[in-house]
Amino acid sequence: MSRKLGLTAASAVLALTLAACGGEGAGSGSGSGGGGSDEEQSIGVSMPTQTSERWIADGDAVKEQLEAEGYTVDLQFAGDDIPTQSQQVDQMITQGADALIIAAIDGTALSSQLQAAADAGIPVISYDRLIRDSENVDFYVSFDNFKVGVAQGNALLTGLGIANDDAPDGTATGPFNIELFAGSLDDNNAFFFFDGAMSVLQPKIDDGTLVVKSGQTDIEQVATLRWQQETAQKRMEDLLTSSYNDGSKVNGVLSPYDGLSRGIITALQNAGYGPTIDAANPMPIVTGQDAEIASVKLIADGVQSSTIFKDTRLLAEQAVIAAQAFLEGNEPEANDTESYDNGVKVVPSYLLPVETVFTDDIQSVLIDSEYWTADEVASGQAD
Ligand code: GAL
Repeated sequence: MSRKLGLTAASAVLALTLAACGGEGAGSGSGSGGGGSDEEQSIGVSMPTQTSERWIADGDAVKEQLEAEGYTVDLQFAGDDIPTQSQQVDQMITQGADALIIAAIDGTALSSQLQAAADAGIPVISYDRLIRDSENVDFYVSFDNFKVGVAQGNALLTGLGIANDDAPDGTATGPFNIELFAGSLDDNNAFFFFDGAMSVLQPKIDDGTLVVKSGQTDIEQVATLRWQQETAQKRMEDLLTSSYNDGSKVNGVLSPYDGLSRGIITALQNAGYGPTIDAANPMPIVTGQDAEIASVKLIADGVQSSTIFKDTRLLAEQAVIAAQAFLEGNEPEANDTESYDNGVKVVPSYLLPVETVFTDDIQSVLIDSEYWTADEVASGQAD
C-alpha cells in the first residue's frame, strides 16, 4: 500500500517535471508518461541488445503479455551500451513507470538507477541476468543457470560419446582435445554456466579423458566480453594457431551461447574443419544455448552439436506474474530463496527448467511447442 502511495506521489511530481521540460526525451518508446493512474499502469522493460534474437524474442514476449493484461509498456533495447541502458532506465523512472523489468548488460552498473527506483517506490524485477551489488532488486526471474552449465557439459560429453548422467550408455574413453569458452564476466550468469559445466568436465580433465590443449581453464582466460560472436571467433582462431599447429585436432568446444558457437564454428570452418560433425575432417562437438534460429539450423544440418533451450515465452510469463503481484501489493511467489546472492542480499527467484536439444530433439522440443516452425528451421531465419 505504502509502495503504491509513494509511487503515485512520485509519479505525479515526475509527470509535472516532465511536462515542464516539454515532454518526451530522446529514445522514449511507447511509454505513456502518465503511469501511476490506476487505470493505466505502465511498465518499463529494459533489454540489453537487439543483436541477439533471443533478447528481441524476450522483449516482444514480455511486451505482448503485459499489454494483454492491460498495462502500457515502454520497451527499450540498449545496443549493449551501458550508458544507453542507464539512460533508458532513468527515463523510464522519470516517465513514471510503475514497475521495471530489466535484463542488465553489466550486472553492477545500474545501482544509482535502482536507488532512484526504490526512492520512487518502483519495484524492480531482474530478468534472466541477476543485477548485482544493489539492495534494490526485488525479484529475479531466470532459469536454473547452474543446471544450464551442467547440461552444456553433459551435452559436450554426449556429443563426444562419453558416458554422463544424460547419456549413460556412452563408451568413448578419449583422450579428446577440447577448448573452453565462457560468457561475459560482467554477467552473473557466465559464472553459473561455467561452474555448472566444469562440475562435469573437470573430473574428465583430471582423469585424462579430456585434454584442454591450450591449458586455458580459468574463467578469466576463457571469458568473452559482451558475449560477442567476433570475439569468440578471434579467440578460436588464436587457439588454432597457438595450440593446434602440430597436426593435432580439436574434438570439442564448450560454448555457453549460440552466438559464440557460431563464431567458433566459423573459425573452425575457415581452418578446414567440417563442414559437418560427420565430415572426414569432422567439425568438433560444439555446444550452445538459447536455441537461436541460425544455430538451430546448424544443428539440423549436423554442424553444431547441441543447444540449450530456454523458453523465453515462459520466462516472460514469470516476469509478468511477478510485476502483477507487486502492482497488486503482493510479493511474487519464489521457488528459490537461496541460490542468487547479488552481493548485498539473496534475491528471491523464480527459476525455470531447461532442455538440451540435439538434432533429433528439434521436432519434439522446438517445433511441436511452436517456438520455431519447420520453415524457420529450414531457412535459419525467424519469420
Ligand atoms: C545470458 C543469458 C544467455 C545468453 C547470454 C548472451 O545472460 O542467460 O541465455 O542469452 O546472456 O545473450
